[in-house]
Amino acid sequence: MDFPHLFAPFAIRDMRLKNRIIMAPMESHLGNADGSVSKEAIAYYRERALGGVGMVVVEYTCVDGQEGFSSMAPQLRLDSPFYRSGHGKLAAAIQSGGARACVQLSHAGRQSRESVLGRQPVAPSAVPLKSLYLNAVPRALEADEIPHIVQRYADAAALAAQVGYDAVMLHGAHGYLLQQFLSPLVNRRDDDWGGDFERRLRFPLEVVKAVRAAIGNMPLLYRMSVSDFIEGGLTIEDGEAIAPRLCEAGVDAIDISCGSLDRVDVIVEPMSIDEGWRLPMARRIRAATGKPVICAGVIRRPEMAEAAIAAGDTDMVSLGRALLADPLWPNKARMGRTDDIRPCTSCNWCIKETGGNRGVSCAENPRCGHETDPPIDDFGQGLRAVVVGAGPGGIAASLLLDQAGFAVTLFEKRHGAGGNLITSATPPNKEKLFWYHDFLQRRLAASRVDLRLGVEATADHVDAERPDVVVVAAGSKLAPLALDGVGDVPVHPAFALLLGDVALPPSSPERPILIYGGGETGTETAEHLAKQGHHVLLVSRSDAALLARNAEPLYRMHLLQRLRANAAITVADHSAVTGIDGDAVILQSKGETRRQPAAALLLAHGLVPDTRIADALAHLPVPVVPIGDSVRVARIGEAVRDAYRCVQDLRRTINQPEAIAC
Ligand SMILES: Cc1cc2nc3c(=O)[nH]c(=O)nc-3n(C[C@H](O)[C@H](O)[C@H](O)COP(=O)(O)OP(=O)(O)OC[C@H]3O[C@@H](n4cnc5c(N)ncnc54)[C@H](O)[C@@H]3O)c2cc1C
Ligand SMILES: Cc1cc2nc3c(=O)[nH]c(=O)nc-3n(C[C@H](O)[C@H](O)[C@H](O)COP(=O)(O)O)c2cc1C
Ligand code: SF4
Repeated sequence: MDFPHLFAPFAIRDMRLKNRIIMAPMESHLGNADGSVSKEAIAYYRERALGGVGMVVVEYTCVDGQEGFSSMAPQLRLDSPFYRSGHGKLAAAIQSGGARACVQLSHAGRQSRESVLGRQPVAPSAVPLKSLYLNAVPRALEADEIPHIVQRYADAAALAAQVGYDAVMLHGAHGYLLQQFLSPLVNRRDDDWGGDFERRLRFPLEVVKAVRAAIGNMPLLYRMSVSDFIEGGLTIEDGEAIAPRLCEAGVDAIDISCGSLDRVDVIVEPMSIDEGWRLPMARRIRAATGKPVICAGVIRRPEMAEAAIAAGDTDMVSLGRALLADPLWPNKARMGRTDDIRPCTSCNWCIKETGGNRGVSCAENPRCGHETDPPIDDFGQGLRAVVVGAGPGGIAASLLLDQAGFAVTLFEKRHGAGGNLITSATPPNKEKLFWYHDFLQRRLAASRVDLRLGVEATADHVDAERPDVVVVAAGSKLAPLALDGVGDVPVHPAFALLLGDVALPPSSPERPILIYGGGETGTETAEHLAKQGHHVLLVSRSDAALLARNAEPLYRMHLLQRLRANAAITVADHSAVTGIDGDAVILQSKGETRRQPAAALLLAHGLVPDTRIADALAHLPVPVVPIGDSVRVARIGEAVRDAYRCVQDLRRTINQPEAIAC
């Protein structure tokens, strides 16, 4: 066994776990609109239980269907016996999959919306919330309302015990109601429920005691933001004082998390954050309580999970996004097949999709959230498929078609596969995307796909393969841009630089590399060049406040902080490149035209779908399916999802007999 500590059994109270791997609670939005458990939710959780985790923690489950939903509603509920049967089936499905079943009980307090609740959100005090995701003005709870909320947690926990869950977790993290009472910034009361440390602690302690009384000897876990990471908020020192008190009141294990809606970047960390960064905090809480701790947050590789447990930083690890990307993570680790784990890159496409109410999904794992889909069987046996373009969309389509039994030819005009996945991964702090790139390369090498590198596919190439289906994953190209004049400033697409296809001359502050376009490509290229020692002038038509506006918001927050602090990057906003004149670029800036000497001009003003090959193939008598950026310029997740949808649709349509004869 490669990971003896990770796969050593463990016990919380009397509950035996087969290993140290917990599935973190993650809102799936797979429940029914009324908050009950759906068959899709059951399939999603069961697939992860079958993947080998020791325990599954079912997502945010609301204890109060009137005031407890967060802004992410609709959410699962367990606030009345009506919800019993769904949760009973869910717990049983997880258990029959080989894992323990725990449910996370939560009340959002101020982190909700009037439009969701139909009434003003409640909080310890009427402190407004202004965050990246939500603005809200709550009303302060009356003192006599608070014991009723305590009772709701206890009632929900009693229902959880009745329906057969093995354990209950209180959601005391991420800025929800339990944390609001603890926070000196949010709890400004001066009564029995707030005013000093002891009184702020009262609500969580009452909830723990009430829940303990309701569930008897069942294990009780508490998910805690051990630090707020905001000035004046809760610190790790507060965490060290609070956690032992919770344990004295009846908590059996602490699950280490951080942040609130004010700092979502420390809850679901963007890809610039290091693996295992919370482990030192877990270690401190473990020492302070003497109780088992579970550490969540960017635990990605079994090697580092093993090392963390072996070093005594944590007793268990909690995997969130890693299990969206690959439900089989635990089993693959146990079998030593670590290279086969589909690696979560922290790209946070899942957050955008789940927040957008489309249901949980993963950029790399298109089956995530669609576990009721039939598996891809060998419906393509004896058929031939051609795929044009070996970016993430084309590689995913090729692998799925290969899985379906097609003989697949994959054309790629460059001398390596990867497409704009390489462009995406090259800038600083994005190297996790190379994990996915390398994974796809390994999968491609292990497949039967006939990869033809260095071939720019034409209609003739495709015709010659006599395909039964063609998938066009040709990606994007630069949007048209008219530049006046002539000159000797080298001009290249920025993506070509990131792909390593062009070399640049030296630059200086007087003669920088000029990048045109303040979007994600422009800003990331600027950082990339600055890291290589270049001087960069980043020209944006919009205001500097809108730089990289389409980037993932949490990643963008960190990107902008780094850009502002980078002395090698100057921003010219409200400016446009109109032409080239000799060794300079012509800039129109706030009504003035000027010559800006430049060592090179990199174009990052926008991309459009490349439809050339799809148009050339329109005459073919077989399905020609465009996917990914060649349909609309988007993200890796859309390209991979298109690939999956395309193959699932083919399963239903290609060579299928007509359903009716008349
Ligand atoms: C700077 C930058 C940063 C980005 N960062 C992120 C990010 O952090 N996260 C994210 O999700 N997305 C990011 N994206 C977007 C992401 O890279 C794309 O959405 C994704 O790569 C699209 O995949 P695709 O397979 O559709 O196309 P592509 O990745 O563009 O692949 C298309 C492939 O087709 C090949 N091709 C084209 N025509 C032919 C032909 N006729 N014959 C043979 N081969 C052909 C091309 O050479 C290319 O390899 C970023 C994009 C850029 C430019
Ligand atoms: C889509 C999604 C939904 C989440 N929902 C919850 C939730 O319901 N309750 C909770 O405590 N944490 C939630 N989280 C946070 C995760 O449990 C986890 O702590 C976080 O993603 C960091 O761990 P990871 O790097 O392993 O993903 C969610 C995370 C994601 C990605
Ligand atoms: S979408 Fe990105 S962050 Fe989310 S689970 Fe998948 S790889 Fe990880």
